[in-house]
Amino acid sequence: MSESTAVAESPAVRPFPLPGGYPLVVGPFSHLRAERERLAALRWQHFDAEQVGATLGAEISGIDLTVEQPAEVIDELRRALHDYKVIFFRDQPLTPAQHVGFAQRFGELEIHPALTASAEHPELVRFEKDSQMVGVENAWHHDVTWREKPSLGAILHAVEVPAIGGDTLFADMYAAYESLDADTRAEIADLDAVHDFTRVFGSRATPEQQAEMRRQNPSVQHPVVATHAVTGRKHLYVNRIFTDYIVGYDEPRSRALIDRLARQADYPEHQVRLTWRPDTVAFWDNRAVQHYAASDYWPQRRTVERASITGPRPTR
Ligand code: SIN
Repeated sequence: MSESTAVAESPAVRPFPLPGGYPLVVGPFSHLRAERERLAALRWQHFDAEQVGATLGAEISGIDLTVEQPAEVIDELRRALHDYKVIFFRDQPLTPAQHVGFAQRFGELEIHPALTASAEHPELVRFEKDSQMVGVENAWHHDVTWREKPSLGAILHAVEVPAIGGDTLFADMYAAYESLDADTRAEIADLDAVHDFTRVFGSRATPEQQAEMRRQNPSVQHPVVATHAVTGRKHLYVNRIFTDYIVGYDEPRSRALIDRLARQADYPEHQVRLTWRPDTVAFWDNRAVQHYAASDYWPQRRTVERASITGPRPTR
């Protein structure tokens, strides 16, 4: 899409690379236009949606997630998720059981082997931060790409939020792919990357403990560019925290490519930012976006709970 969109633009609005070999492109990102306009034209039957980012993010209203919704509403929410990539709901005082029940309408839920679960619901990961427990989710990532079948999506409910700070940012991985130059896209088309549980969860473990962790959670290979199982669109599928190396590349070349691709999330044009209120819910498509929880609120309290829905194995 990006090339055909780009050539349709007048030369006056074409982006250009900065001199000196730096890969940053300045000027309008023409690949964003078609998606921004497509989303703006969407209309929904069972709820309202206000687009809040250029190519991702919508605030959904007119729906109460604390009550069981009919199948046609769930189907329409699933379509909205695939279109907007991340959807937000305000004022949803979900109990943990309601949270789990809502998430289960979208598929089987994961149990995380390392993160703390809520007391009564092992399917709910509880991120409870305060002066003693700092937020460390401030690195762009897709969740659990160290799994053979990483989650297709996650639903995060804000239980307690700081007065200021603690926003979560989301970055569009379709746009990230589409804004790559043609040479990079050709280079990565058939590449695979290895994703490793121990990069994060074993970072303070002994080599013996790491070996045991790897035995229980073996490294997996996923395509660097995956095709979304529902939308059929190509998206970048590497992230800084779990992607270990590019298959067939030596260490410096592998690290340089992962860094180059991971930086696609850094462009504000590819992002939307959520400022939480108590009982805000965010539901993201874990293929289409990466996310980043700003760790700027310490030592205030911030508690959120996450239910993750098992997805299919990513394919090229
Ligand atoms: C996560 O990384 O899943 C948690 C995001 C957040 O705390 O906002």
